[in-house]
Amino acid sequence: MTFKPLVFSGVQPTGHLHLGNYLGALRKFVALQDSHDCIYCVVDLHSLTATLVHDDLADQTRAITAAFLASGIDPQKHIVFNQSRVPQHAELAWIFNCVARIGWMNRMTQFKDKAGKDRENASLGLLAYPSLMAADILVYRATHVPVGDDQKQHLELTRDIAAKFNNDFSRRIGELGVGQPVEMGEETVNGFFPLTEPLIEGPATRVMSLRDGTRKMSKSDPSDLSRINLTDDADQIARKIKKAKTDPEPLPSDLEGLAGRPEAENLVGIYAALADTTRAAVIGDFGGRQFSEFKPALAELAVEKLAPVSAEMRRITADHAYVDGVLRAGGERAAALAEATMRDVRDIVGLLQG
Ligand code: TYM
Repeated sequence: MTFKPLVFSGVQPTGHLHLGNYLGALRKFVALQDSHDCIYCVVDLHSLTATLVHDDLADQTRAITAAFLASGIDPQKHIVFNQSRVPQHAELAWIFNCVARIGWMNRMTQFKDKAGKDRENASLGLLAYPSLMAADILVYRATHVPVGDDQKQHLELTRDIAAKFNNDFSRRIGELGVGQPVEMGEETVNGFFPLTEPLIEGPATRVMSLRDGTRKMSKSDPSDLSRINLTDDADQIARKIKKAKTDPEPLPSDLEGLAGRPEAENLVGIYAALADTTRAAVIGDFGGRQFSEFKPALAELAVEKLAPVSAEMRRITADHAYVDGVLRAGGERAAALAEATMRDVRDIVGLLQG
């Protein structure tokens, strides 16, 4: 692929960020800054699909931005902005709505979960959510997207949309000379959009609830004990880990021994991610020990790693002028890139402009 390597990812401004968001996404965003150009976006338009009327959308948007900055994202070197400032996302999403098929959207497990039984009554926005997500990524022709495991299916759909667009418009892309070689299986085609690679790796791609190791840690879980929020203080973090569900056995002496023990596996994965090591190394240190020994060690590590982030987050969140300035400047840089893509897209599709 000859597309310039570029990282894009997004986080919704709904509810508090939790340990899953931090380990599955934010920490990876930070790590990629040294090797890649990165664009990180607070996807405020996406949050309208969950709740249309928010009392505090602007503040939630600032809070997520503050979390990005507190985690160590550098808004001078990279681009940080909120989605709605760059209307080209919504414009490309409309074109993708006409590329993607309803059947593709109906198959999305997140749509099925969120729409529940009464699918006919779900908003059209919720159904089309992955199309806007594809537009977020492809309006920059981004090549790599760091996310948690729950976004895997959406990223496969992003590739399907890019492939169909490249195919449907191959003649126009060739005539206009705006294509790049894109590998599609065995063959290489002249395409306009890259087939984006998801980056889903490490010990914490799917952090589970502290109350039930078979369910994902989630913003929408009614029990606050199920998750560690980035805004929790040291006492809350320690209390939640102490109360975390476990089984009565000590930790196993090898990785295979975690099979069928989802709560133990989750806590070991969290420890490994926070300590920047592997599950195997954690088992090497704690194998055979009781949870009564492991949990205080985990709580201490979690407080050590998260307390500085949450303190910095509180400080930055309070400084509206600074946060808004970062988003405004990032939005201008993002819009320039997005508009360059859209000029070509409008030509490819045949929309009259200029
Ligand atoms: P969102 O806001 O639900 O979550 C933000 C990021 O956190 C990851 N994540 C987790 N990782 C590990 N364990 C968990 N329990 C856990 N819960 C959440 C998510 O995988 C995600 O990486 N659709 C996206 C937002 C989005 C986006 C995009 C992402 C919109 N456009 C373009 C990438 C590229 C979402 O709702 O993430």
